[in-house]
Amino acid sequence: MIKEISSFSEVKLADEAFVVYDANVAWIAEQIMGPGVVGAIAIDATEENKTMDTVLLICRSMMEAGLSRSGEVVCVGGGITSDIGGFAASIYKRGVSYVNVPTTLLAQVDAGIGGKCGVNVDGLKNMLGVIVQPRVTYICADALRTLPRREMLCGVAEMMKTFLIADSTAYEEFCRRGVSVFAQGRTEVPGPCASEVPGGPICAQGVAPLVRPCAIKRAAEIKSGIVEEDPYEKGKRAVLNLGHTFAHGIEAVAAQRGDDIAHGEAVAMGIVLAARLGDRLYGTALEPRIAGDFERIGLPVKCPYALEELVPAMCKDKKGAGEKVKFVLLEDIGKPKFEMLAPSEAVEILSR
Ligand SMILES: NC(=O)c1ccc[n+]([C@@H]2O[C@H](COP(=O)([O-])OP(=O)(O)OC[C@H]3O[C@@H](n4cnc5c(N)ncnc54)[C@H](O)[C@@H]3O)[C@@H](O)[C@H]2O)c1
Ligand SMILES: [Zn+2]
Repeated sequence: MIKEISSFSEVKLADEAFVVYDANVAWIAEQIMGPGVVGAIAIDATEENKTMDTVLLICRSMMEAGLSRSGEVVCVGGGITSDIGGFAASIYKRGVSYVNVPTTLLAQVDAGIGGKCGVNVDGLKNMLGVIVQPRVTYICADALRTLPRREMLCGVAEMMKTFLIADSTAYEEFCRRGVSVFAQGRTEVPGPCASEVPGGPICAQGVAPLVRPCAIKRAAEIKSGIVEEDPYEKGKRAVLNLGHTFAHGIEAVAAQRGDDIAHGEAVAMGIVLAARLGDRLYGTALEPRIAGDFERIGLPVKCPYALEELVPAMCKDKKGAGEKVKFVLLEDIGKPKFEMLAPSEAVEILSR
């Protein structure tokens, strides 16, 4: 369930709660702490810390706090925090419930919804995990006040992905407003910013208030609706992977080379490649339009690597370049279509 709130005081905790929070958003965790909180742990939200060791640390901390089977875990942070905290909750004493209070745009529209929780193993992403739904995901636009602009844009990429697969009207509306917001250089808005937020040296440069809460809510609802229909990704849920097969390839090459490409940035480039692949297969002309929309908003659109380099990481389970994987393409804005193709075949079509 998604609940939009205008202030963190509206977060309703269970009678017994344990808070797992990202140290960068201690200012939000403080607003949530209430009489029912038996303990809390701050985590350093990095991919390096998204491991079983951190899950174990959290579980030990919950044991020390005496959290019982009827207690509840509250995850306050971005996707790293909800991935680890949700996982800890789902195995603690064979599973207690949890709620998410996502503090990044990406987590509000994506990671904090849908119940996928997991950790990295030996540097490989999300190798261990579960799908257990949060009892509720609270969405509060105020959280984004301190979010750095780059993180904000990563969330924007996932939001646009969601609109592209499910809601052409929302997509067009977002582009129209997004264009006016990001392209006209209006990155500074009056009002409190990071320097005025306790513990918040990071500045959102005024971007946050400009992504309208109703658009965030719409994207969150779309994801939630898709997950409800197909919680274990047996079918339709896979549409949420638009751009992600290419994005995983881009992220893998970036990691090998030590390049700094964020997930949302790779997703933006991946969506553009998926649009081009659809154009080649269906005779559409979506790539120029989508690439233009993304660029105006400030998202990167051009994959910096030769497409052949992406192939190994796009192959599922390293079974070889000939194995077909499920690509999500677009027949139109709002109309996704699955296409089974070998990554090498996809790259060959793109290179024609
Ligand atoms: N479970 C899922 O369905 C799912 C979906 C997408 C991504 N993910 C996972 O989510 C992770 C990425 O999550 P993310 O992008 O939400 O962010 P994150 O948790 O990686 O946090 C990014 C950075 O922003 C900081 N931060 C968070 N909220 C802030 C705020 N309000 N103000 C200032 N700084 C803030 C964090 O401390 C961190 O430095 C990845 O590990 C990814 O694998 C999971
Ligand atoms: Zn993603």
